[in-house]
Amino acid sequence: MKSGSRVWAIGLCCSAVLVFLLTFVGPKGASTELRTLPARSVEAGLSEARPEDLHPRGGWLSASHSSQLLLQHEAPPRKKLLAVVGVQTGFTTNHGDDRYNYEARRKVLRSTWFPANQSALDRFEASTKILLTFVLGHSEDQQAEEGVQLESEDHGGFMRLPVQEAYLSLTNKTLLFLKQTISTYEAEFIVKVDDDVLLRLDRLPAAISQWTQRGSDYIGCMKNGEIYTSDKYRWYEPQHQLLGGGQYFTHAWGPVYVLSWRIAREVSQLNPNSLRFFNNEDVTVGGWMLALNGRHDDERRLCEPICTDTSIAVYDYPRCAGLCEPVKQMQGLWNSTACQLPALSGSDQTLPQTPPFYKFQHQKLK
Ligand SMILES: *[C@@H]1O[C@H](CO)[C@@H](O)[C@H](O)[C@H]1NC(C)=O
Ligand SMILES: *[C@@H]1O[C@H](CO)[C@@H](O)[C@H](O)[C@H]1NC(C)=O
Ligand SMILES: *[C@@H]1O[C@H](CO)[C@@H](O)[C@H](O)[C@H]1NC(C)=O
Repeated sequence: MKSGSRVWAIGLCCSAVLVFLLTFVGPKGASTELRTLPARSVEAGLSEARPEDLHPRGGWLSASHSSQLLLQHEAPPRKKLLAVVGVQTGFTTNHGDDRYNYEARRKVLRSTWFPANQSALDRFEASTKILLTFVLGHSEDQQAEEGVQLESEDHGGFMRLPVQEAYLSLTNKTLLFLKQTISTYEAEFIVKVDDDVLLRLDRLPAAISQWTQRGSDYIGCMKNGEIYTSDKYRWYEPQHQLLGGGQYFTHAWGPVYVLSWRIAREVSQLNPNSLRFFNNEDVTVGGWMLALNGRHDDERRLCEPICTDTSIAVYDYPRCAGLCEPVKQMQGLWNSTACQLPALSGSDQTLPQTPPFYKFQHQKLK
């Protein structure tokens, strides 16, 4: 009896050591995975983008994989970051119309909250561990590509994705952005923000520590609007029959939302052909978050219509999915006293929180 249990104990002990070795030593020793390098540099242009960022319709155009390079055994050290902020932008389709002039949007961002050039970006990243980049696919318009190439040489800060920019391919662009980010960096959160939103970058570190404490995976202003079942409407959902009619499941507004590294990695590891795509990017991402059991966090500070001492993202919520006229509005808004309020407030120098509309089961609310 006694020696029997001794043998047992030794066996148990050995398996524990084995499990330990396999878990902590094995995988890290062998970094032989295939990696995808970013195509972060210069290519680029001006072309069509998503006029109303939130609501693309339909199929995507073929992705060119020429800008991706597969390397084996040669992974450069990954940057350890707090967050990667991808500012989704497009190609200018009409220089005469501010609404479609994405070059002008980027210009005004560079004179407001987005660091103006590569050295400013590098300095910002070094001091905050927040990496900022514009995120842009490609255009068939050679002139447009050349325009962006020049802009990128002058200012830096572009992540180029192997996707044709189009109104219809936003969800695939988001997916590629996540994949590229996950394969290149290491961070705690990924912020997806459109180029017509004012972002208080100086509040991001405090917000991130709050989101970490709450254990959130999917952070944004949650909604569950009407499902459009008629193709007369722009936001028509052809797969409405699958959704049970009425309203959508709860998902975040598209102009800005935040994903934990964990959940973004899970999404990016899935075979895209196994993912359900709905017509709209925001709805589709919300569907993935449900399927992957992400922890939703209704963060109303990400959709404040005016600057306040709590706002992290500001746009014309709920009138427009961004600032209604970003090129005209951004600089004046940024200059305003309210938008220049200090990052933190009160004698305890914290970032005040706001009550959510939706309280999710898992959420620890203070
Ligand atoms: C996006 O990519 C998937 C998988 O690669 C493809 O099946 C789908 O048609 C694309 N969807 C859209 C809306 O572009
Ligand atoms: C980069 O931008 C900063 C302002 O943010 C400016 O002071 C600096 O001169 C710029 N550097 C170059 C190389 O243009
Ligand atoms: C914003 O402030 C800058 C300088 O601080 C000034 O040059 C610019 O004219 C102002 N713009 C607006 C629209 O208020």
